[in-house]
Amino acid sequence: MHRFSTMPMVIGLGMALRPDDKIPLQEQVMASAAGAMNVLNGLHLEGFGGVWVSGAYCEDRTLLTRLGVDGLAGFLFVGTPQEPDRVKRRPDVAHYMVDWNGLGDVSFPVDKRES
Ligand SMILES: Cc1cc2nc3c(=O)[nH]c(=O)nc-3n(C[C@H](O)[C@H](O)[C@H](O)COP(=O)(O)O)c2cc1C
Repeated sequence: MHRFSTMPMVIGLGMALRPDDKIPLQEQVMASAAGAMNVLNGLHLEGFGGVWVSGAYCEDRTLLTRLGVDGLAGFLFVGTPQEPDRVKRRPDVAHYMVDWNGLGDVSFPVDKRES
């Protein structure tokens, strides 16, 4: 829990889940995650730095009750970067994309590479 007290700001990603709703639970969770990602993108756009973290405390009944939420998709740790972001090596996105012409099975370049 120490990390929490050292962050300039922590945003709890509380979820109001309705298991019996006409919207499937999985979609509700996905919508929460999409919302969280939009907040994260917005923060970065405004010049803040943020990282999404989770952990066992997301399942902590006491914490959930205290926050008044049904579930936690995690937390956003937010601050102002002290130095420029390090450029990370990313996988080539082309390995994860495929043009499908409507015929035959879809097969991704990354799967061909690994087999
Ligand atoms: C739902 C979720 C939970 C995450 N939990 C953690 C976490 O507890 N600890 C952590 O180091 N990274 C966690 N991450 C990953 C970081 O948010 C981040 O994506 C990762 O450090 C890689 O950074 P990058 O996105 O710049 O490559 C989580 C990501 C998601 C989407």
